[in-house]
Amino acid sequence: MSGTLPQGAISREEKLSFDNLSAHLVHPIETLLLEEGSILAVLLDVKDLIVRFYTQEGTVYAVNGVSFELDEGETLGIVGESGSGKSVSSLALMGLIPSPPGKVESGTVIFEGRDLLTLKPDQMRLIRGKEIAMIFQDPMTSLNPVLTIGTQITESLKLHEGMNTSQSRKRAADLLDMVGIPDAYRRLDDYPHQFSGGMRQRVMIAMGLSCNPKLLIADEPTTALDVTIQAQIIELVKQLKDEFNMAMIWITHDLGVVAGIADRIQVMYGGRIMESGSSHEVFGDSRHPYTEGLLGSLPRLDSSGEEKLTQIEGSPPDMRNEPAGCPFAPRCDVRERLNLERCWDERPPLETVPNAGGDETHVMSCWADIREGVA
Ligand SMILES: Nc1ncnc2c1ncn2[C@@H]1O[C@H](COP(=O)(O)OP(=O)(O)OP(=O)(O)O)[C@@H](O)[C@H]1O
Ligand code: SF4
Ligand SMILES: [Mg+2]
Repeated sequence: MSGTLPQGAISREEKLSFDNLSAHLVHPIETLLLEEGSILAVLLDVKDLIVRFYTQEGTVYAVNGVSFELDEGETLGIVGESGSGKSVSSLALMGLIPSPPGKVESGTVIFEGRDLLTLKPDQMRLIRGKEIAMIFQDPMTSLNPVLTIGTQITESLKLHEGMNTSQSRKRAADLLDMVGIPDAYRRLDDYPHQFSGGMRQRVMIAMGLSCNPKLLIADEPTTALDVTIQAQIIELVKQLKDEFNMAMIWITHDLGVVAGIADRIQVMYGGRIMESGSSHEVFGDSRHPYTEGLLGSLPRLDSSGEEKLTQIEGSPPDMRNEPAGCPFAPRCDVRERLNLERCWDERPPLETVPNAGGDETHVMSCWADIREGVA
């Protein structure tokens, strides 16, 4: 999904007409021909995802029309402050929205030609863990405290890969070894509380990778860890992602964390995409006031150390109200500076940011042009 297309590649327009054609196939797996002999497939195609929670306190408008694509082997970073809809949109892909109170109101999630939102629970169970795996923020909530690590890893190997006990224990030990757990075979018989926080996160990664998934969703997998361990885990996941040739969605509130991992970055706010583009576009040519705000709170490697880091003033929106206009309006200094009244009652569409290469990878939703300083 990046910059200039290599020789022999097809343009996005050609790809779209290819998509139209493939939509008529029985299993419409969309493909993007990159160069002779190599095919880059669209692994995941999410369109117009809307998720709500109907609570006693009112309706929570958690995800409001989110669309994105992910190619095989690609890494997408989803970034945004707390409550922006990052986890809920990923849980929806996995069929894990608690219902009630949650409901996926509409949308399609095409994964390898199947709409995951139309699958029955037992069909979805076969995909979860096997083809799509998820690592959560806090391993203690996803690891069962009363079962040994070995039992928990071998369970999914037996279910999805049809292995017997000794085969699955051998594979589980290999996986623990691969993620850097010393004395792996013996540690299979230990319980989660016998591992440190960083080691538990490694166990979660080993479990996520156990069935060689095509897509790994990592939801804030390093937030609970100290900075050094965080860096080690990020490095480990990067290395394993290449080894396993997986696509990955890495969710975080911290743009700095995905800087070195993501091919593409999607910035979310108020359950919507505010800006999306290649890492290069979002870091080097950000166009949305909210992205600018997130970037302003990051220390820069090339800074003299004298610039002040800024925080975005105000708090994230109350998701029980769906604003008529831009959800960022109450906190937006650009709106204030340019006195843009329409921001309050007209919602800006997600539009392509023109670039010199002519491709359409960079999109954002804002009435202002922060580069020109005009609306
Ligand atoms: N089970 C639930 N019941 C009611 N509301 C929910 C539920 N789960 C999530 N929400 C609401 O949906 C909105 C989006 O939540 P989500 O968990 O996706 O945020 P997030 O971007 O992942 O934030 P964080 O960085 O804190 O993890 C929030 O307003 C949240 O309160
Ligand atoms: S649309 Fe208006 S309020 Fe929203 S980010 Fe742009 S300038 Fe700010
Ligand atoms: Mg979350």
